Amino acid sequence: MSDIGTRTPATPSAPVSVHDLDLPVVPLDARDGTRDETAEIYHSLSAESWIARSQIGFSILHYDDVTAILRDKRWHNAVAKLPELRGITDPAFIDRPPSILAAEGDLHVRLRRLVAKAFSPREADRLRPFMRDVVHDLVDDVAAAGRADVAVDICEPYPIPIICELLGAPREDWQLFSRWAEDVLRIFNGTALDELDVIKQAQLELNDYVREMIARRRSDPREDLITQLIAAEEEGDRLSTEELVSMVNAVIVGGTDTTRNQLGCAVGVFCDHPEQWALLAERPELAPQAVEEVMRYFGAVRGTGRFASEDIVYRDILFPAGTFVFPSLASANFDADVVADEGGVNTFDITREPVKGRTQMTFGSGIHYCLGASLARAELQEALPILARRMPDLAVDGEIEWKPQTVAIFGAEQLPVTFTPSVPRS
Ligand code: HEM
Repeated sequence: MSDIGTRTPATPSAPVSVHDLDLPVVPLDARDGTRDETAEIYHSLSAESWIARSQIGFSILHYDDVTAILRDKRWHNAVAKLPELRGITDPAFIDRPPSILAAEGDLHVRLRRLVAKAFSPREADRLRPFMRDVVHDLVDDVAAAGRADVAVDICEPYPIPIICELLGAPREDWQLFSRWAEDVLRIFNGTALDELDVIKQAQLELNDYVREMIARRRSDPREDLITQLIAAEEEGDRLSTEELVSMVNAVIVGGTDTTRNQLGCAVGVFCDHPEQWALLAERPELAPQAVEEVMRYFGAVRGTGRFASEDIVYRDILFPAGTFVFPSLASANFDADVVADEGGVNTFDITREPVKGRTQMTFGSGIHYCLGASLARAELQEALPILARRMPDLAVDGEIEWKPQTVAIFGAEQLPVTFTPSVPRS
C-alpha cells in the first residue's frame, strides 16, 4: 500500500504542505450511494493513500489516522464553521453561543463534565421499557397488513417520543418536536441557504418552548433530563439558561435524525441478510453485538469535519491553520484492522466479537465522541430484536430509495417491505 502521492520538492527540513501533495481525489458522489457503492469507493481510495483530496479539504481514510485526528485537540470541530461554509451571514446563526458540538477547550470540558451523568448508560437503561412500548405500538399499526414502509412507518417516528420522554415533554407535543427537529436539522444539509427562514422559525419556536419548560422545572422538578441538567453542578458551576437551551437543542439535533436513519440503514442491511434477521429474532441476546456490527457495516453518519486551529504537522505533512479535513468514519469502518476474522470487512455477521481497541467509528472518537451513544445503543438494541421477531421473512418490496448526497446523515427515504403478517398486540 503506497503512503501518499507525489510530493513537490520542498526544503529538506520543512514539512511539505498538504496543499502541494498530489493526492487521489474523492469522487463527488462518494457519499451518494448504497453501502456497497460507498465501500467500493473507499476501499479503492484507501488502498492508494490514507488521505485524499475532497471538495473543500482532505478526506482521512484509515482507522488509525481518523482516530488520531479526532483525538488531537488542535483539530477543531468544523461544525463551528458551518454557517461560513454554507455562505450563511445571518447574525441569528453566527452570533449565538457555541453548542457543545462546536465548543472546544475548557468550555467543552466544562459542558461535558456538567452533562455527563445525565447521559450515562444507567439513564439510558431507565428508558428501555418505554422504548419497547414505542416500537411495539409502531409495529402494531402495520403487523396485520404484512407490509410497511419501514423508513416512514417505523424509523421516522421512533426517536421523537423517546427524546420527548427523556426531556420530559408531554405526548401532545410530540408532533411539534418532530417538526422542529426536522427543520432545525436542515442547517446541516447542502441546501441550508435556501431554507434559512424555515430553520430560523423552528429554532425560535423550539427555544421559546424550552425556556418555558426550564422555568416550569425550576419550580416543579421532575424525573427528566431538563430537571437533571438544571440540577447538574460541578464545584459550584451550573449551566446558564441559554446553555441549557443550547444543550436541549444539541440533544434534539443529535438524537433524532441519527437514530432514525441508523435504524433504517440497519433494516436495509438485514433485508440483504435474511439469515441474520432470523438469527436475531431467535437470539435477541445478540442485540448489542448486532448493533455494533450494523454501525460498523453501514453507519448513518459517514463522516465528520475538522479544521486546523493552528499549523499542524501530522505524518510529516503540514496542514496550515484553517485547513479542513474530513475524517471518514465509513472508510475507517471498512478498514481491515477493525475486524479480526478471515471473513473480512465486507461480511455482515452479528455474532462477530469486537476487536479490542477497535470499536466501530460511527459514534466518532475523541472529545466530541457521541454524548448520546448509550441512549442510541439502547434504542437500537431494543428496536431491532422486536422488529426481527414481529416482522419475520422481511423482504424489500420494490426498491429502497436512499437519501440524496446533500444530507449530512445518510439513510433510507423509503424502505418498502413485506413480511409475514401477525395479529397486533391487544
Ligand atoms: C445511532 C445514532 C447516533 C449516531 C450515529 C451519532 C453519531 C454522532 C457522532 C459521529 C458524533 C461526533 C461528531 C463529531 O465528532 O463531529 C456525535 C456527537 C454528539 N451526539 Fe450523537 N449520534 C447518535 C445518537 C445520538 C443521540 C441519541 C443523542 C442525544 C440524546 C446524541 C447527541 C450527541 C451530542 C450532544 C453530540 C456532541 C458531543 C460533543 O460535541 O461533545 N447523539 N454523535
